[in-house]
Amino acid sequence: MAANITVNVQPHHLTIAEAMRTIVSFDGEGRPIVAFRNGINYVRGLSGEVLQKRVLAPGQKERRKLSDEERRRVLAELLTWSQQMIERIAATASSTERDWFERIRRWDVDRLEAERERFRKVYKPISILPPDQYRALVLQATEGCSWNHCHFCTFYRDRAFRIHSPDSFRNHIQQVKEFVGAGIGLRMAIFLGDANALIIPQPRLRELLRVVHEEFRIGPQADFKGIYAFLDIFGAERKTLDEYRELTAAGVRRIYLGLESGDETVFRLLNKPGSPAEAIEAVRTIKAAGIAVGIILLVGAGGERFAHDHVQRSLAAIAAMNLGPEDIVYLSPLIIPTDTPYLAQLQAFDSPPLSEDAILEQFNQLKQGARMVAGPGAKVVIYHIEEFVY
Ligand SMILES: C[S@@+](CC[C@H](N)C(=O)[O-])C[C@H]1O[C@@H](n2cnc3c(N)ncnc32)[C@H](O)[C@@H]1O
Ligand code: SF4
Repeated sequence: MAANITVNVQPHHLTIAEAMRTIVSFDGEGRPIVAFRNGINYVRGLSGEVLQKRVLAPGQKERRKLSDEERRRVLAELLTWSQQMIERIAATASSTERDWFERIRRWDVDRLEAERERFRKVYKPISILPPDQYRALVLQATEGCSWNHCHFCTFYRDRAFRIHSPDSFRNHIQQVKEFVGAGIGLRMAIFLGDANALIIPQPRLRELLRVVHEEFRIGPQADFKGIYAFLDIFGAERKTLDEYRELTAAGVRRIYLGLESGDETVFRLLNKPGSPAEAIEAVRTIKAAGIAVGIILLVGAGGERFAHDHVQRSLAAIAAMNLGPEDIVYLSPLIIPTDTPYLAQLQAFDSPPLSEDAILEQFNQLKQGARMVAGPGAKVVIYHIEEFVY
């Protein structure tokens, strides 16, 4: 191997690095997936979008999607660098490495960019996932959000809610498999999209889960360790303990709920469906059925006037959920959308938005508080919606 260049072959990805200054990893198809160059991290999603992350100053990080022009420039630079490295080391490479290099060489910027159109034919935009599911294989059993009216959330405004029929779902899965190709080895879990797939009435959900099992091996020893999904609280109140037990048996391992706030007034101000009390009840039922939960709290929700109650009542709600080591509390700092009624609502409630410093302070209060009140071993982690790319 040429000096300073290392190649690391894993079952489902390959990484080329040069003196830790530049690092690029590729999926089984030879498409770049993550990179580090000139102090900047890049993540290229299946959608073809590229997320750039870099530290601007201590404690200050930039996270943003690259523009079309920037993306093409960065991809060209990374591909050229990779080809040069491959040229330098090809002669001494093993046959497995040469096989990988062949796949990597097949890609140029135009072909990578054409993937964006292919993706759009297979998927509706994948607006968000929980942070521990960024590498899941998303199957859009539903499209959009059945509620779509929370004042702070713009993720699914671009589409009507729709539940797939078993036939159209199977067709979607076939297209997903073809598009992801050998890159599927990187995906360890199935995430049922979109915003609240578990709102699907049980008979239809049963059929769709059957299709998933016909198409994939799922289980602790299988390629996919389990099935995961979001649920809004409105839907959660509708399933019974027995129905959740059926989901446990079908391989559902964790359900993610946006509680956002344990305070009734803030909850109403946000226009969330249901109530904090119903959320607690739903979580208890889900956990009693043996399914873990991910609970999302919105840091800064409700503004100044309700800040104290938002923190205290959110922590009380978390405490009432009896979380355990398999559960996660996410803290999502609120990014105020410009084109929703959220700011007008704050005004109507006479509650100015929190400053950045106050949001940071509230984040620390919620983090420390949640660590104390969440059950033993439950994780408390940050949820940066800007850090997501699929
Ligand atoms: C798909 S949604 C939640 C799942 C489910 N639909 C529900 O409402 O329970 C994912 C999460 O993203 C977060 N989110 C949405 N809009 C946000 C915003 N503008 N700023 C910060 N977090 C946001 C919320 O915490 C929300 O629960
Ligand atoms: S927060 Fe959840 S329920 Fe509310 S609009 Fe967004 S996706 Fe739908």
